[in-house]
Amino acid sequence: MRRVLVTGGAGFIGSHTCVALIEQGHEPVLLDTFANSSAHVLDRIHALTGRRVDSHRVDVRNTAALRRILEDDIHSVIHFAALKAVGESVQRPLDYYDLNISGTVSLLQAMQHTGVRNLVFSGSCSIFGATVDSPLQEDAALAPSNPYSRTKVMCEAILADTCAAVVDLSATSLRYFNPIGAHPSGQLGEDPLGIPNNLLPFAMQVAIGRREELKVFGDDYSTPDGTCIRDYIHVVDLADAHVRAIERFDRDSGFRALNLGTGRGTSVHEMVECVRLVTGHPVPTAIAPRREGDVPVLVADPSLARELLGWRCEFEVDDMVAHAWRFQRAHPHGYVQST
Ligand code: WQD
Repeated sequence: MRRVLVTGGAGFIGSHTCVALIEQGHEPVLLDTFANSSAHVLDRIHALTGRRVDSHRVDVRNTAALRRILEDDIHSVIHFAALKAVGESVQRPLDYYDLNISGTVSLLQAMQHTGVRNLVFSGSCSIFGATVDSPLQEDAALAPSNPYSRTKVMCEAILADTCAAVVDLSATSLRYFNPIGAHPSGQLGEDPLGIPNNLLPFAMQVAIGRREELKVFGDDYSTPDGTCIRDYIHVVDLADAHVRAIERFDRDSGFRALNLGTGRGTSVHEMVECVRLVTGHPVPTAIAPRREGDVPVLVADPSLARELLGWRCEFEVDDMVAHAWRFQRAHPHGYVQST
């Protein structure tokens, strides 16, 4: 059993990872500002696991507060706390560099001061650009094309440099492809504030009746049906990979990065069709201009994660959509106004 600090633990992936940690016999300690997430998540984690997790309303840039929390018998850290909307990062680059970069530096400083030496970092496939062909291995050329993905590339360099300087530090970047879905119970899920940036949450809000139609951002890409292809991965499979990484690299040192996807691609049209089948809703769509920064295909080659973590994805796309729909129906307007 390990006490694991989970920064951004009230977020979509963070909350599912807290549940997975408890299920594997660990003790998550949740840190979040709740600026982009709901405190209702704490009750849901309790309802699902029977455990009331310790939580701290702290900003990860508050190094002194971090040190006090780490000194309370924390063994490892999973670092989710960050801003993560590609489009928003173009409008607010300094907010992204401040929280994503300064927050990671603050955490590493606090870990170094307190001797906590095992970190799993929330990476992103958005660091790969249009220049490389899928399926993508870890050594594919990096071509970040927006401030958000540039913060992820910079953070990996910071982790690698710090591991080179701090002899027993172990840091693992898990590069997510497209995390979607919800806990099978429907009690935890993705609850974006405002207008959803991402495809499935938007389609869910059309299906539940909160939005009229879904805009398909371009159908003239060089793909079989003209729409972009992504590697969607169930959030519960992703949470499992985090627990495995914490355990696998606990006694290692150095930096490594792993691409986390299923290795299978789904187009926008295919995803919308799946939502129609699962929800029984027509989900009206309209073709719109391409979205700045989109690349035609992003699919992982997950073989290194399989080899090093013994990790397998359990869920298929229709499971992801079915679980997301179960959450959406239980929370038509998100956690705040849940039934
Ligand atoms: C998928 C496809 C859109 C919305 C996300 C995160 C990023 C990273 C990877 C972690 C694209 C199309 C979307 C809509 C549409 N995750 N689309 N209409 O862009 O691959 O990136 O996952 O780091 O942070 O943003 O995901 O769901 O936004 O888009 O046609 O209303 O769906 O053009 O082709 P993306 P997405």
